[in-house]
Amino acid sequence: MEDKVKPIKRHKAIQGFSREHHFGLLVSWKIRQGLKKGVDLKRIKRFADWSFKTYIKPHFDGEEKFMFPLLDDDDKLKKRAIAEHRRLERLFNDKTDINRALNLIEEELDAHIRFEERNLFNRIQEIANEEQLRQIEEFHKEIKETEEWKDKFWE
Ligand SMILES: [Fe+2]
Ligand SMILES: [Fe+2]
Repeated sequence: MEDKVKPIKRHKAIQGFSREHHFGLLVSWKIRQGLKKGVDLKRIKRFADWSFKTYIKPHFDGEEKFMFPLLDDDDKLKKRAIAEHRRLERLFNDKTDINRALNLIEEELDAHIRFEERNLFNRIQEIANEEQLRQIEEFHKEIKETEEWKDKFWE
């Protein structure tokens, strides 16, 4: 897998979100591989749906509950991140043109994660106080271990 997100100096409270980003980049990469190999779109879509429900949506919700509120509502980075969450959720739920939706998810999920790692998380890390960081860390104590998806169409 090429061009992984570098683990920049990340406060340990935020590392849980960053670990999930690694998983999100893998989801994107697996979809890309499936599309490249011409795998039946229904198989890719089932994996995308499962990934969204199991990991990506809870991750979005966690960010929106514990991370984004630390920024002002008119903060450009925050506005962009929220808009991208909505857009990605729409794409995951899109059943009209699955080929188009999967192609856009693959591209935009990757871009969203890189934007958060390079910009948004640095900003949040700068402004969060100890109590806020503690709450972020607490949230990740409950995250379950990664389950495996059996149909490995990307291999
Ligand atoms: Fe996000
Ligand atoms: Fe994220």
